[in-house]
Amino acid sequence: MRSTKQYVNLSHNKVENHLKTLQNEFEETVTPTDTVTYKLRQFFWSNFFGFVYHYFKSRFGKRYPYQSYPKDGDSGVYQIPENTTLALLSDWATDTVESDLVGRLAARYNTDYTLHLGDVYFVGAPKEIRANFLNPDASWPWGKNGSLALSGNHEMYSNGRGYFEELLPRMGVDQAGVRVSQKAGFFCLENAHWRIIGLDTGYTSVRNPIMEILNPPDCRLKDVQIQWLKEQVKLGDPNDQRGIIFLSHHPVFSVFRNAFPKPGEQLRKILGNGDRPVAWIYGHEHRMVIYHTQNLPNSLTVHGRCIGHGGMPVELKAPETHDPIYFMDDRIRERLRRKNVSYNGFAYLEIKRPQSLMKYIDMEDTMIFQESWRVENGAVIVEQADAT
Ligand SMILES: [Fe+2]
Repeated sequence: MRSTKQYVNLSHNKVENHLKTLQNEFEETVTPTDTVTYKLRQFFWSNFFGFVYHYFKSRFGKRYPYQSYPKDGDSGVYQIPENTTLALLSDWATDTVESDLVGRLAARYNTDYTLHLGDVYFVGAPKEIRANFLNPDASWPWGKNGSLALSGNHEMYSNGRGYFEELLPRMGVDQAGVRVSQKAGFFCLENAHWRIIGLDTGYTSVRNPIMEILNPPDCRLKDVQIQWLKEQVKLGDPNDQRGIIFLSHHPVFSVFRNAFPKPGEQLRKILGNGDRPVAWIYGHEHRMVIYHTQNLPNSLTVHGRCIGHGGMPVELKAPETHDPIYFMDDRIRERLRRKNVSYNGFAYLEIKRPQSLMKYIDMEDTMIFQESWRVENGAVIVEQADAT
């Protein structure tokens, strides 16, 4: 179990994230009676060269090979019941008291599917994957019919090895009574009315340090993912009038930090026009925000929902502008390292034929916001949205 305090003020600096992973490993090896000098000396000698080696290997080394469908007869498109429930957690895997609370609370909702929208802290190392998801005392809420995971940027800080080798083989969904393991960083869950499409924006969110200066990562969907969307998902089929819910780690729209518009622009090219509103649920930013519907330039018309408040401290920060915000959870829960911190939580999605109900549940099991959507000629319409 980790202390929540070490996550306050955490930057996207890869050095800091690698150091924190090593610091945690080290702290597990010393006993409370060791002196500070001894601990420091041990930390330096046991970790310094290891850190330098692992940091350079992961920052300049090759990313884990990109995975795609079809693979072993699996198209990555899975059928789900007409009436079904899902729990959506993002930026959750911190192995803290808070992530345990949220994980165990989501488990009590006993949903058919549970989805993680990415970021296993600090660097998605195999040990961190096991602590959050796989160990007997891990608190990931496994869905009755399966669980799937997207990659965030933190999984890619260690080149994705932990994510692809440790996590994905344990993720998967039941199809006709058989458990199918997750084979790539993206997927589609669908029934007669809805398509829930998980996009991989994590893999392209990190490059080696020189490339990041020359050509900053834009979280674009790689060509093979575009090909999958066209050929397996058949996303561009004009006769397909199902409602689309995109999931990604990175935000397509934000008024707090940099958004990543590229995937929206790529999807518009496949979908043909931007007039068919879609729901888009994302994390990366550690807060819970409901945006007004946005007609994004050269992109899609999006009902944007940020649910990155799964497990990281929700450090309150003023937006650049309030205009696009319909609702945000800015209640102060506690002061942590002189920062105001709000509530963690998750989203509960209930699909009932052409209707969908989204409930935003905080760590104390209070529903702070709910909304209902319906599908009409391929468009996702927000019928009702209320803070409770
Ligand atoms: Fe992230």
